Amino acid sequence: MDLSNMATPSTVKLVEVGPRDGLQNETSAVSTADKINLINALVDAGVRYIEAGSFVSPRSVPQMADSDQVFAGLSPVPGVTYAALTPNLKGFERAIQSGASQSRAGQSRAMEVAVFASASEGFSQKNINCSIAESLTRFEPLMRAASEQGIAVRGYVSCVVGCPYDGTVAPEQTIAVSRALLEMGCYEISLGDTIGVGTPGHFKRLLDPLLTHIAVDKLAVHCHDTYGQALANICTALEYGIATVDASVAGLGGCPYALNATGNVASEDVVYMLHGMGISTGIDLDKLIAAGQFISAVLGKPTNSKVARAKG
Ligand code: HMG
Ligand code: MG
Repeated sequence: MDLSNMATPSTVKLVEVGPRDGLQNETSAVSTADKINLINALVDAGVRYIEAGSFVSPRSVPQMADSDQVFAGLSPVPGVTYAALTPNLKGFERAIQSGASQSRAGQSRAMEVAVFASASEGFSQKNINCSIAESLTRFEPLMRAASEQGIAVRGYVSCVVGCPYDGTVAPEQTIAVSRALLEMGCYEISLGDTIGVGTPGHFKRLLDPLLTHIAVDKLAVHCHDTYGQALANICTALEYGIATVDASVAGLGGCPYALNATGNVASEDVVYMLHGMGISTGIDLDKLIAAGQFISAVLGKPTNSKVARAKG
């Protein structure tokens, strides 16, 4: 693609996925109170979109079993959206029943949900126990219920360039699943490099054809950093005009169904890079680092953020 007439965005929306994508993969138990403390610290740092938990099978992902209590404990803050990962109608109903969109005091809280499909059959089967086509069918009643209740739905596509079970993933597969999710009513697609194998070359080979089908303002990138390529891949996405970037404070996490995959790129490292590029995020880097230090201390392990280590 000719990038000469495409502007790198001047502002980026950071989607903080640490409390969900990060903590879902931690072996040590994190208390509900500490999850809420982490989310509050992120809000205090200026993060305005936080994926706070997931309503999946507690047998599959026990670390997220207390998401209802986490959501119930979150304070409504003007401009802040809390999101929940929901794999099916049951997960959506649990999110609503747990009061995810209402605080105890009855004040409304901005809330969204996210559905997640895979571009590869192997990961779809392992992660959500069904084929790609079946997963899309499962989302239909969820999408209807969300639409009736006025709740926005974000869509993830995992394994956009590579799959731990199927190997290389062709751009056509990612494009087809992304289009299907948008047609179902998702307002945005987060392109997940679940196992972090992508390079700027992979992202260019994906984004060139993908952007002939999907508008750039409907896209986000979600880069795990397993091979140390995440910041380079995010830079590539920025060059194409993508202005929403997922990241995880302290570089926490991974996916229980993508063994060896490390966490998402650290939010601190993304924010440091964006600010250095003159791109605003509305986030206070020092406070973000403090949020990362807090959760790293809770987990009893060093941060995966290079910026936090350098400044610490
Ligand atoms: P299933 O076994 O096919 O579902 O699981 P089922 O409908 O046959 O139900 C089986 C049992 O699960 C039943 O319970 C259901 O009630 C229960 P039983 O009757 O046996 O006692 N169940 C649920 N319980 C609670 N909440 C629910 C729910 N749904 C069914 N929502 C299912 C299908 C998707 C539920 C399961 O495979 C699952 O929960 N998988 C976990 C998936 C997950 O959380 N993966 C990690 C997140 S995805 C990710 O990290 C990637 C991402 O970051 C992007 C990227 O990096 O690429 C988003
Ligand atoms: Mg992920």
